[in-house]
Amino acid sequence: MATKVERAGAQEWVPAGADVGRLREAAVDCRGCELWEPATQVVFSAGSPTARLALVGEQPGDQEDRRGIPFVGPAGRLLQRAVEEAGVDRADVYVTNAVKHFRFTQKAPGQRRIHASPDVGHVSACRPWLAAELAAVDPDVVVCLGATAAKALLPKDFRVTKDRGQVLRLQTSRGEKTFLGTIHPSAVLRVPEDDRQGAYDGLVADLRTAVAALG
Ligand code: URA
Ligand code: SF4
Repeated sequence: MATKVERAGAQEWVPAGADVGRLREAAVDCRGCELWEPATQVVFSAGSPTARLALVGEQPGDQEDRRGIPFVGPAGRLLQRAVEEAGVDRADVYVTNAVKHFRFTQKAPGQRRIHASPDVGHVSACRPWLAAELAAVDPDVVVCLGATAAKALLPKDFRVTKDRGQVLRLQTSRGEKTFLGTIHPSAVLRVPEDDRQGAYDGLVADLRTAVAALG
């Protein structure tokens, strides 16, 4: 029999009207789902709290979990390169994840931790943090990197493969905003080497579209 996991969701840990600094402090205590327990620490955001461009990833990876900073591993390095190539300084960008704790599987303690994608319940449990961040930062353009971030923020029928790179106007608590979904940088890393440059160029092209939407 399938066991139903009860998840309170992050809402009760999210201080109302808080700036990014206060949200970051409060997130340390979050018990909105079970992912906090095996993880090393919560991984909140990085970058400018007044950025006009926000990038939303999936969840911290192994290195992010150890260091407490998003996008510092291989996918993060690729993303940084792509962002710079698209004409933005990473310092002008706010970077965060749909889910703030690393979900992984592990055969035995001390063994390699294998990334496990968060399920839709984790995404919805963690969404109050993302909503509060976007309300505090109030970016003009939000880029969803991969299907998990798209699930958190974009319409239900959005599909990365067919809808990526499209400029969407969506209602938020801070009025109408521009959103765009694209592939996740780790998807680029999974493409066989012969085709990887094309996948990378596609990510850069989508980021350029987002930059152009900044006006
Ligand atoms: N992948 C993500 O989606 N986020 C990170 O912070 C690192 C890797
Ligand atoms: Fe809270 Fe999100 Fe961590 Fe779950 S993943 S405990 S909702 S911060």
